Amino acid sequence: MASAPTGLILGIETSCDETAAAVVRHGSEILSNTVASQIPVHAPYGGVVPELASREHLRNILPVVRTALAEAGVSYDDLDAVAVTEGPGLAGALLVGISFSKSLSFSLSKPLIGVNHLEGHIHAVLLEEAQRAEQVNEATAPGRPILALVVSGGHTHLYLAKWSAGSAKPGAWTYRNVGRTVDDAAGEAFDKVAKLLGLGYPGGPWIDALAPHGNPDAVPFSFSQIKAKVHRRGAPGALDPTQETYFSFSGIKTAILRHTRVFEMEPSIEARRAALAALPTPKPSDALPLCDRRTLDLIASFQRSVVDDLKRKTFRAAEIHHAQRILVSGGVAANRELRVRFTAQAAEEHLPIAFPSVAMSTDNAAMIAAAAWPKFLTGDLAAETLTAEPSLALGR
Ligand code: KG4
Ligand code: ZN
Repeated sequence: MASAPTGLILGIETSCDETAAAVVRHGSEILSNTVASQIPVHAPYGGVVPELASREHLRNILPVVRTALAEAGVSYDDLDAVAVTEGPGLAGALLVGISFSKSLSFSLSKPLIGVNHLEGHIHAVLLEEAQRAEQVNEATAPGRPILALVVSGGHTHLYLAKWSAGSAKPGAWTYRNVGRTVDDAAGEAFDKVAKLLGLGYPGGPWIDALAPHGNPDAVPFSFSQIKAKVHRRGAPGALDPTQETYFSFSGIKTAILRHTRVFEMEPSIEARRAALAALPTPKPSDALPLCDRRTLDLIASFQRSVVDDLKRKTFRAAEIHHAQRILVSGGVAANRELRVRFTAQAAEEHLPIAFPSVAMSTDNAAMIAAAAWPKFLTGDLAAETLTAEPSLALGR
């Protein structure tokens, strides 16, 4: 006999270097949100090693799911469905979560829902808003989209998100991709620049912590060459206004490398790298006394340039597409300067803006369970053929 609906979804996320499981009720109430981070495993390599990630997910998946259920105080039988990230991400890493979730849903005879990781990041914000009962999905003005900047280690995307509620059936979310990076993701730029300056991994939190100690105007970086590059790639003829909302972060990384060479910074970078490597668990505060003025100014200028470029193009996209409000999510949304400068711009333009809490900015499974809820309500369930989609796109 089928049990009464509980509104409980178990979310599972293994797309990159976090093994995560969470129980969320009605897509709006987090009962548990467990994350086993692999940062210490990958840190010595300065980046995620796919084989190690898969192995760690295999090791962690069962304990993480058990912890999530125990913390939520629920059993497998209480669940309405299992939701899992199907992509984008590392193939082997995704497969661990998908295989586990498929077996679980089969053995429990509960539906399985596949979730796009990027949609999950957008729902991290919507979930927390719903949890605070600030913004209910139904309250979003029909006809005018939300503009979502998803900015992480693997992605820099702008989406128009719309919630379509028919009178007879519950609503589904639809997405349109209106901006993206043509090369590196913003988080990747943070990670690579931190690495080349001899700082720790992942680089974002290190640069975030050190930037306030430098002068953000010391080194002027220009993003003007990006537009030319995008235009060359674009179709000939009329200028597509959305090209103003394309990003490129590989140039600034090269500019920083050149700067370190011109000013002969290599010996101090190597000294810092060695000093941090000698510590058992190096933290950004350990790096501060190891950074001279020139290095701190470079870090501050890099962060200011990236944040301002993200800000300018995001607000331009909001203008072009008449967005009713802006959401910013993904790991880089944890950045403090980004939050301050986006918030100030939004106030100036009288445009509402929202971020996830810092914990919900980076990868987690509560966002996957939350994104699955409208799919559960609309019967958008995974087929038996569900498999890892490393390059899965979101929307059109
Ligand atoms: O969303 P996420 O956890 O994983 C991906 O889906 O990629 O994002 C991780 C990325 C890394 O590149 C990390 O350096 C960056 O987010 N990040 C930050 C901050 N915290 C994490 N970047 C800038 N400032 C931060 N505070
Ligand atoms: Zn992510």
